[in-house]
Amino acid sequence: MTQPSPARQSAAVASSDFIEADRAEVDSALYTLLPPESEPPSVIHRAMRYSVFAGGKRIRPILCIESARIFSRPPRGVLPVACALEFIHTYSLIHDDLPALDNDDLRRGRPTNHKVFGEAMAILAGDALLTRAFEVLASAELSAERRAALVREVATAAGTVGGMVGGQVADLEAGGKPIDASMLEYIHRSKTAALIRASVVSGAIAGGAQSEDVERLRRFGENIGLAFQVVDDILDVEESSATLGKTAGKDASQQKATYPALYGLDKSRETARSFLERAHEALAPFAARAQRLHAFADYLVARRT
Ligand code: FPP
Ligand code: MG
Repeated sequence: MTQPSPARQSAAVASSDFIEADRAEVDSALYTLLPPESEPPSVIHRAMRYSVFAGGKRIRPILCIESARIFSRPPRGVLPVACALEFIHTYSLIHDDLPALDNDDLRRGRPTNHKVFGEAMAILAGDALLTRAFEVLASAELSAERRAALVREVATAAGTVGGMVGGQVADLEAGGKPIDASMLEYIHRSKTAALIRASVVSGAIAGGAQSEDVERLRRFGENIGLAFQVVDDILDVEESSATLGKTAGKDASQQKATYPALYGLDKSRETARSFLERAHEALAPFAARAQRLHAFADYLVARRT
């Protein structure tokens, strides 16, 4: 592997402090952007808040904020955009856990939404988070042109053509059947990498990036999104349910299409490293301005939960 650049070396030194600071900022913005539990109909607001404040790592909002920071310091007006991405991510987890999909009882170390609030309310809480996300995006304090670009970017990433829903459908259809490498990459790219890529791209748009730089960050987001899902597949094999906060070993028991299933663990680790390397390369033109994104990319691949 090539030597890390000076920007990346100092990024490693500077790591983790900003992650905690970003997380705290995101948590308090999420808090104010959701209706209070007391707001009628109270049960839906309790269900939404239950899953949003269940201890997620806030990966997508942090990617969004740190992508914006390359172009705007401090990154003004980006927090609501970052939160909208977490709302969409949380909706996807609530729906993914439903009996009709993955049928899981445990998420982020707690009972899943439908186990606490019932299936009907869990479906509605997911719907409501998705809807609130677009309400927040449409209210972002940006030019009308940038706001429209953001809404389009996120809607596409969450949608059926190369987006999260499309990937989820392919994932469901692939379960229990032999699949090839290109189908596996399609599933990962759509189901997981699309929203991660959109988080990075939205940050760039909200931060005021010009189109050439938006495209560089799109390449970063795509590769770090793929690396993230390969690592997620590996952790499902290697870690316990207690560490992951969700049912471990589920991919194998449900005969899911994963990198370890197709290639084994060693080759999967190598694949994650090569996506990570491509992600770092995409940031090269930003030199030290992308220090935090370099560090966060390393964190995402090194994580154990
Ligand atoms: C874990 O994220 C989530 C994934 C690896 C994505 C899996 C994809 C889906 C569940 C898509 C489902 C789509 C639909 C439409 C139902 P994370 O490690 O960031 O979780 P955290 O927020 O708990 O930290
Ligand atoms: Mg699933």
